[in-house]
Amino acid sequence: MTIEKVIVLGGESNFSSTLENYLRRSRYEVASASSIASARRHLDKDNFDLIFLDPVLPDGSGMDFLKEILALPQKPLAVITTGSGTIESAVECIKNGAFDYLIRPFSDEQIGITVRKAEDFVRLVRVNRLLSQEAEESEHTLLGNSQDMEDLHQLIRTNATVLIQGESGTGKEAIARAIYRQSPRARAPFIKVNCAAIPENLIESEFFGHEKGAFTGALNKREGRFELAHGGTILLDEISEISPSLQAKLLRVLQEREFERVGGNRTIKVDVRVIATTNRNLEQSIERKEFRQDLYFRLNVVPILVAPLRERREDVILLKKEFMRRFSRRHGITVKGITDEARQILINYSWPGNVRELQNVIERAVILCGTNGMLEMGNLGLSILKAVSGITSASAKDLKDLEMASPPGGVRTLAEIERRHILSTLQHCQGNRTHAARLLEVSIRTLRNKLQEYKEALPSGEESARLSFA
Ligand SMILES: Nc1ncnc2c1ncn2[C@@H]1O[C@H](COP(=O)(O)OP(=O)(O)OP(=O)(O)O)[C@@H](O)[C@H]1O
Ligand SMILES: [Mg+2]
Repeated sequence: MTIEKVIVLGGESNFSSTLENYLRRSRYEVASASSIASARRHLDKDNFDLIFLDPVLPDGSGMDFLKEILALPQKPLAVITTGSGTIESAVECIKNGAFDYLIRPFSDEQIGITVRKAEDFVRLVRVNRLLSQEAEESEHTLLGNSQDMEDLHQLIRTNATVLIQGESGTGKEAIARAIYRQSPRARAPFIKVNCAAIPENLIESEFFGHEKGAFTGALNKREGRFELAHGGTILLDEISEISPSLQAKLLRVLQEREFERVGGNRTIKVDVRVIATTNRNLEQSIERKEFRQDLYFRLNVVPILVAPLRERREDVILLKKEFMRRFSRRHGITVKGITDEARQILINYSWPGNVRELQNVIERAVILCGTNGMLEMGNLGLSILKAVSGITSASAKDLKDLEMASPPGGVRTLAEIERRHILSTLQHCQGNRTHAARLLEVSIRTLRNKLQEYKEALPSGEESARLSFA
């Protein structure tokens, strides 16, 4: 129930008992008040989610009291209970912020409809608040403790052209947005152009716009992204992908801050801050004559090289923690922690997909997490478990962490990790092999063979009990 506590504030009519009985039967906590003064006392003591309010009260006007309620920081939804003669004033109340009204005499069914409507409303408000808070957080926080990330925070506050280079999924776009938000242009537009996703014949018009009739299909004049970004920031994502002719035009924009729309001859001047990203090595592209060196210099005023996640393992721990929190909230799953084994695997894994991969792995693990609330090795996905066969590339600090996390017998073998993963997935699927095979991304036959293997190797004890449902 999103609504828990309700006040019924009734005047001289006897509708209150009908309401109170209904609400109590429906397991709401009800406080009854016969005057504004007593309603005030309830509101002073506690937070209420809903108030039913008679417009005519012995010590004043319900309408005036409504204004007082609506000014409260934790205001309840207000439903006006009105006789048919005062419908107009009830409508007036709605205009002034009441949630709904009920006309006396009312049936249980009518009360039920109103209460359910209020429940839905409160739920929507909460979901909305959560989503916007989450969107805000995910956009606003750029996480990282490694020295690189520290340096980055220093660089971020400049207003110059920035070139962000790094492998896919390292967070280049996240960094670009963080730069924008902390720049003096934070209140002006942020416009993104994905240079890799737009077909070559359209990209120039996407950048600079076009005049009516500039090409077949150009039925109207259209402003380009540079014009839209005027006064603000433009993110040129995957800049390595633009053609040589567009590179030349972009160079002019960076030098002169001016261009013409496609099919037009009027020069348009813009004031735009440029941030570009690439996951290709632009110096190599220059050597291969695919990228103009002069454009590279113009873009590379503030260079940011984002290290792959495998080179900043302390960030793995930090990001993992944040993603666990974020996804457990998003999916409404209580996650208490992560087992030492699972944590060890996350540290050892090479993260070819970088932060994006870590994020996906944690989301999946949270969804698969068992009722004990712990993220386990078995929740991490087979490809990771296959890739991590022991302590290999861990740094000294990681080794210390890992020592603490290692099982008493030392490092587990890959086969052991696989066996545990298969069994825990099967357990998670309550013994349903088809479901387990799908999650493990193996055929049912493979799964059956593995289980047979384990049965033969361990015919007794706990393991055979765990296998018995298979
Ligand atoms: N430091 C960070 N803190 C929090 N979230 C991050 C961080 N770095 C990356 N992410 C998240 O990881 C995901 C991938 O990041 P992003 O899209 O910025 O990567 P990218 O380098 O632009 O990748 P690609 O080259 O594939 O476009 C995003 O959901 C982003 O929010
Ligand atoms: Mg990107």
